[in-house]
Amino acid sequence: MDFNLTEEQLMIRQAARDFAQNELLPGVIERDEKQEFPAKQIKMMGELGFMGMMVSPEYGGSGLDTISYAIAMEEISKVDASASVVMSVNNSLVCWGLENFGSEEQKQKYLKKLATGEIIGAFCLSEPEAGSDATSQKTTAIDNGDHYILNGTKNWITNGNSADVYLVIAQTYPEKGHKGINALIVEKGMPGFEIGPKEQKLGIRGSDTHSLLFTDVKVPKENRIGEDGFGFKFAMKTLSGGRIGIASQALGIAAGAYETAKEYSKVRKAFGTEICNHQAIAFKLADMHTQIEAARHLVMKAAWDKDNGENYDLSGAIAKLYASQVAMDTTVEAVQIHGGNGYVKEYHVERMMRDAKITQIYEGTSEIQKIVISRSILRD
Ligand code: CAA
Repeated sequence: MDFNLTEEQLMIRQAARDFAQNELLPGVIERDEKQEFPAKQIKMMGELGFMGMMVSPEYGGSGLDTISYAIAMEEISKVDASASVVMSVNNSLVCWGLENFGSEEQKQKYLKKLATGEIIGAFCLSEPEAGSDATSQKTTAIDNGDHYILNGTKNWITNGNSADVYLVIAQTYPEKGHKGINALIVEKGMPGFEIGPKEQKLGIRGSDTHSLLFTDVKVPKENRIGEDGFGFKFAMKTLSGGRIGIASQALGIAAGAYETAKEYSKVRKAFGTEICNHQAIAFKLADMHTQIEAARHLVMKAAWDKDNGENYDLSGAIAKLYASQVAMDTTVEAVQIHGGNGYVKEYHVERMMRDAKITQIYEGTSEIQKIVISRSILRD
């Protein structure tokens, strides 16, 4: 078993780390406060190859493995989880889904621009009444000859306004249940497609989350992804990989909070010495470090499974479940180590604590991961 990263993976880690420190750290507090989308930084991330990391160079991507992607996600998330969720959705849900299941025409038309960050994508599955229960889609895509007529509402859509291309999951044959669902590529500006107001969020406030409204939107048949009725499987397969991305994000948030708290504990003095010299703090740091190491191994194992053609539904769900819990626990402890300063914006850890919570909710709540895990272990 080789735990060493390759030269290339080490270079990617350094490049992502440098970018996060130089381009994301300045302004991250203000963007969080103003709920400002990091548009300039996302453009730069596209130029650096971070927006289509696993896409083949043939379609404008970086042609890298999932491990490299997870490493870059961790580094970006240490500093700015709002930027990393934009990166994660674009890479694992939109680009990966299109490259693996889209037609050649769709790849030429959309994937090339998405992989280079020229445009951004969104993945639209959740609905007011279909969040965790994803088979209960109420949005309809009615077959009307050479096109579908799309009607319905999608909720909590990451990149809701900043995206140009939306992968929308909708029901075509309600009587067939999940086998009657399709995935359609919808472009911003199609008549009848409206973007709802921006959500006012607890965390990842720099990313833009919106509801989307579709009223008799005509979507050409050539924009359907895969066979008729493949939409639910498309969503599930895509989300399995997406969960590795969010697990990496959770890991990064945890590691960012831990490193910030560790550095603080070496300079902050109380009772005549730096606080890291008190076991109350040193033991917290030991626990945080141990949990983060364990989470990193789970994330890397899931990424390795995906890169090596193994089933990663289970390992991805385990990684997301555990890493998101570690993100929550670690950020709370990081605030505690900072004492009163932890409650103040300029020390960063209160933002990290707010950002951590969403990793237990999106791309499947922790309870959904437990459904996936328990079904898998009980089947074996
Ligand atoms: N890969 C391939 N197929 C899969 C699959 C997978 N990972 N998981 C399920 N399926 C298939 C099943 O095999 C089954 O097909 P057959 O009938 O042909 O056998 C079909 O899908 C239905 O599966 P289930 O019976 O298991 O379905 P279920 O209703 O019990 O639900 C679930 C399963 C895992 C709970 C699923 O509904 C789920 O994952 N829910 C959570 C949805 C989610 O993650 N939402 C997040 C929104 S996206 C987001 O957050 C993006 C963002 O903006 C950040």
